[in-house]
Amino acid sequence: MSQIKIEDVKTMFERTGLHSHIKGLGVKDDKVQFNADGFVGQVEAREAAYYVVKMIKNGKFGGKAVLIVGPPGTGKTALAIGIARELGQDTPFVQMSGAEIYSMEIKKTEFLTRALRRAIGVRIKEWRRVYEGVVRNVDYQYGKHPYNPYAQIPRGATITLKTKDEERRLRVSAEIAEQLIELGVEDGDVIMIDEETGRVLIQGRENNGGETYDIGIKRRVDIPNGPIYKEKEITRFFTLNDLDIYQAKQQGLMSAMLFGFASEEKEIPGEVRRAVDEFVVKLINDGKGELIPGVLFIDDVHMLDIETWAYLSRAMESELSPIIIMATNRGVTKIRGTDIESPHGVPLDMLDRLVIIRTRPYNADEIREILRIRAKEERVELGVDAIEELTKLGVEESLRYAIQLLAPTQLRASEMGRKEVTKDDIEYVRKLFLGVKESVRYVKEYENYFLK
Ligand SMILES: Nc1ncnc2c1ncn2[C@@H]1O[C@H](COP(=O)(O)OP(=O)(O)OP(=O)(O)O)[C@@H](O)[C@H]1O
Ligand SMILES: [Mg+2]
Repeated sequence: MSQIKIEDVKTMFERTGLHSHIKGLGVKDDKVQFNADGFVGQVEAREAAYYVVKMIKNGKFGGKAVLIVGPPGTGKTALAIGIARELGQDTPFVQMSGAEIYSMEIKKTEFLTRALRRAIGVRIKEWRRVYEGVVRNVDYQYGKHPYNPYAQIPRGATITLKTKDEERRLRVSAEIAEQLIELGVEDGDVIMIDEETGRVLIQGRENNGGETYDIGIKRRVDIPNGPIYKEKEITRFFTLNDLDIYQAKQQGLMSAMLFGFASEEKEIPGEVRRAVDEFVVKLINDGKGELIPGVLFIDDVHMLDIETWAYLSRAMESELSPIIIMATNRGVTKIRGTDIESPHGVPLDMLDRLVIIRTRPYNADEIREILRIRAKEERVELGVDAIEELTKLGVEESLRYAIQLLAPTQLRASEMGRKEVTKDDIEYVRKLFLGVKESVRYVKEYENYFLK
């Protein structure tokens, strides 16, 4: 196989805004706490999840997978994220719904394979010459656009970088200036510029002893020591899917798709994936890379059909397989593509290999605490009455409904010239947005007026 050059491959990690408050399973001294890491209650399920984490870490989970069952809004997705977080901060987490495999453009097995391979990370280590430091000042120089007289483009920039021991002012090229703009680099960001390729990497924000619990996605890092220009061992992440796409591009397969096909339509050939696997295995054997199995979370798993189950069960046996966590809120139902009924719509031979965890509905105390955490995360200030009112709605309607009301109630409060959300705001907004039970009641009431 030709050398895979890894410069241009970009990695994207999934964003999970709804669950950004979940930092782990909430374990202290090997015991699950009632309220920790953003997780509240659901203690039994979290304890089970923690056992799963231990089994994975001890290499005792091969060929198995997790199934989380429970009613809507009881934290199944949150639990899966908690497991990924416990496995390590960099653990890839990929989320899909069973329904997503039925797309017109791409085969079911291809979709699933991509998801599986996005959930496996490779950490690659290399020595490189870099400029590194915290940004103190950036000045851009602009010039005329070559074709468009009304547009300006960056011609370059002057940037001041600082470490604990040195400060330097550097002139950088247009390509680097463009990246600085695109990445939104600002004062206080710790960045690194690769000398050979000019690639800019933001490592995080300067740790200035302030609050560390930030909504932003930039990590807090210390200001580096020593010289600004140096040789440094750099660690980078790619997923197997990143490498597949890159390798396919290099072989010209992707350019064929520019002629009238969307890039998603084409399958990545097996030989490309085999080449990537070989490359990765070699990196690992040479001590230059490390495999980071992540988590593939398949929600609504009852939507998978019998063919896909067969494919999945083979994939679980491969040595390059991620941890698979499935979830469903169905009881006994038909396995798709057959007339056979089965618990959760999962074939029996697969059920045999699953570790099943159950989540239970929440009580008012749990709902109140979860709402407090979400409000803090979304920077919504709730008055005492407002918390009680929302908790009541969480019990009567659903937790998800109560959480979704947070953002509009805040809007309403600020329209009324207040910072704090009151009970009145909640009563107002809940009339605008129906909960599920209410919307069903409404539609039933007016059934005859709707088109049939
Ligand atoms: N025990 C908990 N502690 C903190 N937050 C929670 C907890 N349970 C659920 N949440 C939060 O409540 C919301 C709904 O939970 P989640 O989406 O995990 O439910 P689900 O069981 O996956 O529901 P569905 O069956 O509809 O997919 C999310 O924002 C989630 O992060
Ligand atoms: Mg869910």
